[in-house]
Amino acid sequence: MCGIVAFIGSRDAEPLLLEGLRRLEYRGYDSAGMAVLNGKGVEVRKRAGRISELENVLGTQPLHGSVGIAHTRWATHGVPTTRNAHPHTDCSGDIALAHNGIIENNDVLRTKLQELGHQFRTETDTEVLAHLIEEAFEGNLEKAVAAALTQVDGTYGLAVMSSRDPEKIVVARNGAPLLLGVAENGTGELFAASDVAAVLGHTRKVIYLDDGELAVLTRDGYQTLELAAWETGNPPEPIEKEISHVAWNLDRIERGGYSHFMLKEIFEQPQTIRDAMRGRLLESEGTARFGGLMQLSGSLDTVERIIITACGTSWHAALVGEYMLEECARIPVEVEYASEFRYRNPIIPDNTLVIAISQSGETADTLAAMREAKRRGAVAMGIVNVVGSTIARETDGGVYTHSGPEIGVASTKAFTSQLTVLAMITLMLARRRRMSIDDGRKLVAALQELPGQVESVLEQQAVIDEVAREYWQHTNFLYLGRGSNFPVALEGALKLKEISYIHAEGYPAAEMKHGPIALIDENMPVVCIAPADSVYKKVVSNIEEIKTRGGRVIAITSEGSGLESKVDHLISVPSTHEMLQPILTVIPLQILAYKIAVLRECDVDQPRNLAKSVTVE
Ligand code: AGP
Repeated sequence: MCGIVAFIGSRDAEPLLLEGLRRLEYRGYDSAGMAVLNGKGVEVRKRAGRISELENVLGTQPLHGSVGIAHTRWATHGVPTTRNAHPHTDCSGDIALAHNGIIENNDVLRTKLQELGHQFRTETDTEVLAHLIEEAFEGNLEKAVAAALTQVDGTYGLAVMSSRDPEKIVVARNGAPLLLGVAENGTGELFAASDVAAVLGHTRKVIYLDDGELAVLTRDGYQTLELAAWETGNPPEPIEKEISHVAWNLDRIERGGYSHFMLKEIFEQPQTIRDAMRGRLLESEGTARFGGLMQLSGSLDTVERIIITACGTSWHAALVGEYMLEECARIPVEVEYASEFRYRNPIIPDNTLVIAISQSGETADTLAAMREAKRRGAVAMGIVNVVGSTIARETDGGVYTHSGPEIGVASTKAFTSQLTVLAMITLMLARRRRMSIDDGRKLVAALQELPGQVESVLEQQAVIDEVAREYWQHTNFLYLGRGSNFPVALEGALKLKEISYIHAEGYPAAEMKHGPIALIDENMPVVCIAPADSVYKKVVSNIEEIKTRGGRVIAITSEGSGLESKVDHLISVPSTHEMLQPILTVIPLQILAYKIAVLRECDVDQPRNLAKSVTVE
């Protein structure tokens, strides 16, 4: 997934585009580039590496012009080099474009264009777009872009400009996010970007483009058009688009004195869990209510089966949700890897609810899985963080997690907010079925205690530091948990893998005896999640099995569990309702992974080879 930002207005574009790129860097950071119309033609600067590399180039070779596009890349086709960096140009160099997505039929198009005499400079799939537009260009850029895109299979968020039809930027979207930023200060300045972070410093007025839409940005304003309408051959009628007002403010996307966004986001969790609950808990009725689910009310009463689909950390949240919903609401739940579900021939009987969980709301596999389930008659609900994102707009109803912008690539606060929302959805469904008002009120009370309990977990820095200092050079870790803490073990292992590049595996504790126990020796740190819940005694015997083989045990357990003597390191968390315990037990694992990554001098916020949300397959 890449980040695109574009600007047309009266000010010099370069500094505005550079600032926009910095705010989008978490989307992809293996190379970056910029192009402006300087009155004489198109000028391009690009460089492999972080945006700071591009900044250095611009320091000695600045760009001047008030119309420009820029891009930060997460390579899919063509290795991350300066040559393969965006923007890409056509043979003449008059057309420049930046693209987020994958052109699946790029090979066929490339061959066709080469037969027509086009010279290719890069190994990217994107470059075919520049030559297709060049081939179709007859003086009007948006017409040429539309003609080019009718030949394309694949996904794109796109920004294009040309010195042959200057004073204009054309953007288009199909399967990758793109929005317009409309200046609030009457200057008529316009932005286009992959997400609000890039425009928030200039405006809160945004227009979310939908798949199959194109927009033309000029100094006189913008027009949004349906791509398909062009196939009639006549210039299409402009379409009305709603202007949304972004609630987030700039400081939410700043590091606020923390050394990393991930650390800031870990410490934001007491507040983000509070925000996830705000206005949704009904104390006296012992239940929860969601404005975004009102239109689904009928379906929620008749739902007989739930499928939860997601990727990565969101998939781990789905697994915890399965335990919650089956245990308390007594509804059968299946958890599906979105990337598998979308290509499987799933059976979707009547009264099936599909829940798509996604922080970004743009993850391609989750979006496709949700669309597939809808196509087969399921009611689709979203649990999403990014307001206005595609999954949020395409589901039948949903719940925003209100975690605020999550910049660190390794998801933390979004995970605990997803679990909080899943717990409240479980409460609402359970109270509509068989949970008593007393039990409902107890769960509401336990939910309201969570922010304070998370604060006390965050105070455990010293003991977690000690553990990190002892094990940061190890090359393998094992994470074990039972029940709803098995997904927490998976999440702890994922956090460590993502940011410290240490090989780590999460397992159901009892599964250890069926293989992984062979890995146990004095060099294998084993993190055991053992809160004092209904399976505590079982986990304790697993811990004893590990100690018998000389393993090193780091236990996450409830205060006063009495496990000290059986383990090498003990990190305690407050006890809460069993269904909510994963919200507390995961936090020491986030901090441990963070501290180990810092000790290993890894780039915590932008780990290698990763991107914040994967909008390509
Ligand atoms: C988690 O730390 C990762 N960034 C990744 O696994 C992520 O959870 C996954 O890509 C899903 O993203 P989403 O929640 O935005 O859909």
